[in-house]
Amino acid sequence: MILLTNSSLPPQVDLVPAIQALKKELNAVILAHYYQVDEIQDVADFIGDSLDLSRKAAETDADVIVFCGVHFMAETAKVLSPHKQVLLPDLQAGCSLAESAPADDFAEFIAQHPDHLVVNYVNTSAAVKALTDYCVTSSNAVQVIQSLPPDRKIIFGPDKFLGDWVQKESGRDMLLWDGSCEVHELFSEQAILELKQENPEAKVLVHPECPAPVRNLGDVIGSTKRLLEAVANGDPKGSYIVVTEPGIIHKMKEAAPEATFLMAPAEVAGSEKGSCTTCNTCPHMRRNTLEKLYLCMKNRSPEIVLDEEIIRKARLPIERMLKIG
Ligand code: 13P
Ligand code: SF4
Repeated sequence: MILLTNSSLPPQVDLVPAIQALKKELNAVILAHYYQVDEIQDVADFIGDSLDLSRKAAETDADVIVFCGVHFMAETAKVLSPHKQVLLPDLQAGCSLAESAPADDFAEFIAQHPDHLVVNYVNTSAAVKALTDYCVTSSNAVQVIQSLPPDRKIIFGPDKFLGDWVQKESGRDMLLWDGSCEVHELFSEQAILELKQENPEAKVLVHPECPAPVRNLGDVIGSTKRLLEAVANGDPKGSYIVVTEPGIIHKMKEAAPEATFLMAPAEVAGSEKGSCTTCNTCPHMRRNTLEKLYLCMKNRSPEIVLDEEIIRKARLPIERMLKIG
């Protein structure tokens, strides 16, 4: 039993059954990203990577979408389902990538390169999506870029490391925006090499938001879903060095209960390499708690509200992406 601890609310609320009851009352669906805390994943109707969550948000017939993820993901759900109420347990759950690309600055960048197609990772605000030709996620970025006319120049934002990986995989040169994920950029190449030396049989699973030296150590490089599939289809008793946010390990353990999961350490400026094992948790994703999930459903707030014009313009690049892959 997980009880509500917020003293301003009725004591003794058993959160999981209370959330289930609210789900029925509101005709709501709870969508959660793999980086959410275990308790939220366990109560969600659907858990996925950014691409699957977008698809789910577009096709659900629920009246209310409760999005357990970060702000840009909930905005994407609102863009795809504008007539539904979209709730986010903590409105402050942001993303360093989305924040690295303010809409005004990005518009200026585009204006300086008017002959370029604009491709953006979904980790952007709806306002930046409204300036975009094609969205991508880490699952389909290479496929989307390969589908673009070979004679067109491309701007890619906001993640320079994902952009660098996509350039190598697709063979296309792109003009990259200088953004990065504050979680994935911290993984320590040295600490992963040491872990690999101690566990030579372990497979290294890397998210493409990591810088090239870390990415190059990967046996598998891909989105959270792709990394999870590598475990589900791999040796059930194998060892895995996980180089992404550790929330994903919850589902990996369900897929392979007898496997061993080693979390790659992060590196913090001014301290020993690979000294930090908690710096790789995403502080934004982790703002959501079971308690806040309950409260947002009970209060039907915080709610994502977007300007109609932004919704109309932001929808196009997301729909183009969903059509391609
Ligand atoms: P994916 O789930 O698409 O791999 O995205 C990772 C991520 O960083 C989401 O914020
Ligand atoms: Fe953004 Fe990185 Fe957190 Fe994902 S893990 S939400 S990209 S800061």
